Amino acid sequence: MTIALAPQDTPSQDAQHATAEGSFLHDVIAGLALQPKELAPKYFYDERGSQLFDNICALDEYYPYHVELELLPSVAADLSRFFHTELSAKESELGIIEFGAGSLRKITPLLDNIDCVSHLTAIDISKEHLLNSCNELRRQYSGLKVTAQAQDFTQPLNLEDPGSTRLGFFPGSTIGNLHRKQALDFLRNAGQTLGAGGYLLIGVDTKKPEYLLHQAYNDDRGVTAQFNKNILTRINRELGGDFDLMHFAHHAFYNHDYGRIEMHLRSLRAQRVHIADREFYFAKGESIHTENSYKYHPSEFADLARQAHWQTRRLWLAPDDLFAISLLQFNPAVDAR
Ligand code: AVI
Repeated sequence: MTIALAPQDTPSQDAQHATAEGSFLHDVIAGLALQPKELAPKYFYDERGSQLFDNICALDEYYPYHVELELLPSVAADLSRFFHTELSAKESELGIIEFGAGSLRKITPLLDNIDCVSHLTAIDISKEHLLNSCNELRRQYSGLKVTAQAQDFTQPLNLEDPGSTRLGFFPGSTIGNLHRKQALDFLRNAGQTLGAGGYLLIGVDTKKPEYLLHQAYNDDRGVTAQFNKNILTRINRELGGDFDLMHFAHHAFYNHDYGRIEMHLRSLRAQRVHIADREFYFAKGESIHTENSYKYHPSEFADLARQAHWQTRRLWLAPDDLFAISLLQFNPAVDAR
């Protein structure tokens, strides 16, 4: 098993670990010093967090997962026809680059339907989880070249042999976890990575009746609450913090003004928490903002994409417009205004 590292990322395993731990500590201390306090959602995803996210996807209430998965086979069949007419004979090989690949469960409809895919590069921040998923995929698709790249996918990427035509794949509405500037940065970086003429297939959760959103982020079994609190467990274990999980509660709600679900961890009493040599005071009811999940009307999303020079070539909507999948093409000449 090889992990492809970008040339600038070649320190020893220990040094890499130390760097990752250092930036985790730095980000946590900086986030908890803000008013209101916040933690970056990318820190949910250690091995346990990735497993908890998989458990969320198995919940009936978490419609984005099921609805997108049901839509994907027909999207993939359309895409197969699309690429047959779109690609010339000398560019008949397609390399797929999956951003935030996680469990790689959504790639199979694409691999089963689009026969010109020669190579998959799977990028995810959670290394162990990624390696396991890539091994599983190699067993299933013996002719496919699979490269695992353990990296923060929001950063510019150096791809090892990605194939002649590049199709980025970013399912799950993970773009919703980025605020507007971060989403634009991601789309611009993806444009650099995939190149002029490159494609991006992206799943985006839509605006919808609030009770559906509320249920999806406040499930009856409390799995989302465990996922949210896992960030505190991680701080305790990896950074020597002393958060008492009993005294924080999961809180998720739809913020109309911003068109997003917000997740918070609310302090149930006045308390002090220690991390490294720092102390943080929490008033009763004060919260740590841990995640945003933006919801987009398809036209709002097409506008955002255009501002990063991506043209919408196809749009697929799930029944009742519960979820959208767009095929974008990067064209630096597109008027971004
Ligand atoms: C990964 N991401 C798209 C999920 C979402 O819906 O924003 C993360 C999540 N948070 C709570 N439930 C799921």
